Amino acid sequence: MVSSIDLWRYAGAISFALLGSTQAAKIDAWKSRSIYQTMTDRFARTDGSTTAPCNTTQGLHCGGTWRGTIDRLDYIQGMGFDAVMVSPIVENVDGHVSYGEAYHGYWPQDLYSLNSKFGTHQDLLDLSEAVHKRGMYLMMDTVINNMASMTNLPTGSSKVASEIDYQILEPFNSSSYFHPYCKITDWNNYTNAQLCQTGDEKVALPDLFTEHVEVQDMLEKWAQKMISTYSIDGLRIDAAKHVNPDFLLKFGDAVGMFMTGEVMQREVDIICDYQNRYIQSVPNYPIYYSMLNAFTLGNTTDLANQVEVMKNSCHDVTGLVSFSENHDVARFGSMTEDIALAKNILTFTMLFDGIPMIYQGQEQHLKGGGPPLCREAIWLSNYDTNSELYKLIAKLNAIRKHIYRLDPDYFSMQTYPVFRGGSELGFRKGIEGRQLLSLLSTQGSKSSAYNLTMPVSFLGGTVVTDILNCVNYTVNARSELTISMDKGEPRVLFPAEMMPGSGLCDYPVVNVSFAELKIESASAAVSAGWKATGNTMAAMMFSAAVSMTSLVVLL
Ligand SMILES: *[C@@H]1O[C@H](CO)[C@@H](O)[C@H](O)[C@H]1NC(C)=O
Ligand SMILES: *[C@@H]1O[C@H](CO)[C@@H](O)[C@H](O)[C@H]1NC(C)=O
Ligand SMILES: *[C@@H]1O[C@H](CO)[C@@H](O)[C@H](O)[C@H]1NC(C)=O
Ligand SMILES: *[C@@H]1O[C@H](CO)[C@@H](O)[C@H](O)[C@H]1NC(C)=O
Ligand SMILES: *[C@@H]1O[C@H](CO)[C@@H](O)[C@H](O)[C@H]1NC(C)=O
Ligand SMILES: *[C@@H]1O[C@H](CO)[C@@H](O)[C@H](O)[C@H]1NC(C)=O
Ligand SMILES: *[C@@H]1O[C@H](CO)[C@@H](O)[C@H](O)[C@H]1NC(C)=O
Repeated sequence: MVSSIDLWRYAGAISFALLGSTQAAKIDAWKSRSIYQTMTDRFARTDGSTTAPCNTTQGLHCGGTWRGTIDRLDYIQGMGFDAVMVSPIVENVDGHVSYGEAYHGYWPQDLYSLNSKFGTHQDLLDLSEAVHKRGMYLMMDTVINNMASMTNLPTGSSKVASEIDYQILEPFNSSSYFHPYCKITDWNNYTNAQLCQTGDEKVALPDLFTEHVEVQDMLEKWAQKMISTYSIDGLRIDAAKHVNPDFLLKFGDAVGMFMTGEVMQREVDIICDYQNRYIQSVPNYPIYYSMLNAFTLGNTTDLANQVEVMKNSCHDVTGLVSFSENHDVARFGSMTEDIALAKNILTFTMLFDGIPMIYQGQEQHLKGGGPPLCREAIWLSNYDTNSELYKLIAKLNAIRKHIYRLDPDYFSMQTYPVFRGGSELGFRKGIEGRQLLSLLSTQGSKSSAYNLTMPVSFLGGTVVTDILNCVNYTVNARSELTISMDKGEPRVLFPAEMMPGSGLCDYPVVNVSFAELKIESASAAVSAGWKATGNTMAAMMFSAAVSMTSLVVLL
């Protein structure tokens, strides 16, 4: 038996170089983008109906299709997204068990056939073409850890191994392609989690023997075929934690494109080990949990600290995927209904380092709990483009794109905590003098108005615009900003004279470079002179902010 823990140590040295070189160009092309995650069955129906019922508790198919997705690309693009991730596309097991059917796509049976419930070969080709015509990327959710077999046995049954029907699995049609049957008993023991099955007695999920070269070659060949047939631009690797880590590395080289792999762990060391050694990107679970601490518990120290810790542990936090909801975790709206807190967590998710991936329905403030409840049919919200969070996402995507046009390396620059108040958090990202400053609040929408004074690294006299409300503030002679806070809403500040071209606050979108902006004020001089020392400055500001916390006047 292969001990993956030993392989970790062994693979460390070589893999770092591989990750740095062969896949670098691809990840850079993704860094400036933001991804909208759909679950095909629950996103849009072919007939476009918005009333068709869908009972999330029952876990049955609700009728969403790729054709339906094509017809709703305006809805996705209207928020400014330039990438779409679709749930797995291959044929799944048919039939149902007590907790439902394979509506989610994670129970693969035949890798070389498409999921007939979602559409045809032509439908998927058309979806890919429609996505690309809009200048968007297509990401495919990909299951390489396991296949599926519906065994439907009582819990605890010892007959699972003999009931798995390998013959119908394509192309892995014999038990020799799989690890011997065992059920995971300790999800924190990586050997156990990688050699045994993630499934149960109802739906067995035979665990592919990804240490075998033959299995590796078959998976790589299959992925390459899907990628070229449907012009896929990037992959999400489902259950990456359960795949032999060395194979993740090999698979990444074989597909030669951006891959983000699901490792559902809150420990920074584990997450960063994965990025440093095996896969260029993983969803940022440590920051996700710290965001929950901030915006459900009001703990502002944890998030600010975690931002610093991750920076020191992962070789590139800007390559991770930033998220605050997905199909596997309870929605934020199920933890608190407060819309202001929802705005704050969304703002941080979109503006923090990494590639944001927003799960369908977060923009509608849906409130489903843990799976399957967080997989509501989004059509029931009638694709409301006037919802508060829909409009917020559009603004956040607009400012991201605008700054990227001004500073093409913006998305490779790191976020720094610059302020921490009793219930506020300030972060900045970007070049000194033209950085984006986010001021978040953990107070919630019932809080009243007050003024908050914080030190900033803009020079006195600089005017900054809160891009969410189009209100200007002027930095005082001591390089402090006094911001008007109200109802727990976030503030996002950017130098006012750099707003032209942004598509925000009545400025039309223009493809304008920084040089073309013709900035004359002090902040422009600063941005030239302080560029190299940006990190030191931010670190100084943070210590200053921390020691000043007690001086902040909260009215
Ligand atoms: C959904 O199905 C469950 C289980 O069958 C049932 O208890 C519940 O009432 C249904 N909900 C709706 C809204 O129909
Ligand atoms: C598996 O499929 C291959 C290729 O179609 C075939 O040659 C082989 O006989 C099958 N094996 C089993 C055990 O069915
Ligand atoms: C982890 O799991 C493996 C395989 O199931 C087992 O052999 C090993 O003893 C476990 N390690 C610990 C520390 O429990
Ligand atoms: C905030 O979270 C950190 C890390 O989880 C913890 O150590 C600290 O005690 C928490 N602070 C408060 C006030 O709960
Ligand atoms: C905040 O400051 C502004 C400008 O000085 C002032 O007009 C406003 O009344 C203050 N708001 C509160 C709630 O104190
Ligand atoms: C904010 O400042 C900019 C630059 O000085 C100015 O053009 C703009 O009109 C101001 N906006 C508001 C709402 O005052
Ligand atoms: C914006 O301008 C730059 C430089 O001229 C160019 O490389 C880029 O493709 C343009 N982007 C768009 C969206 O037109």
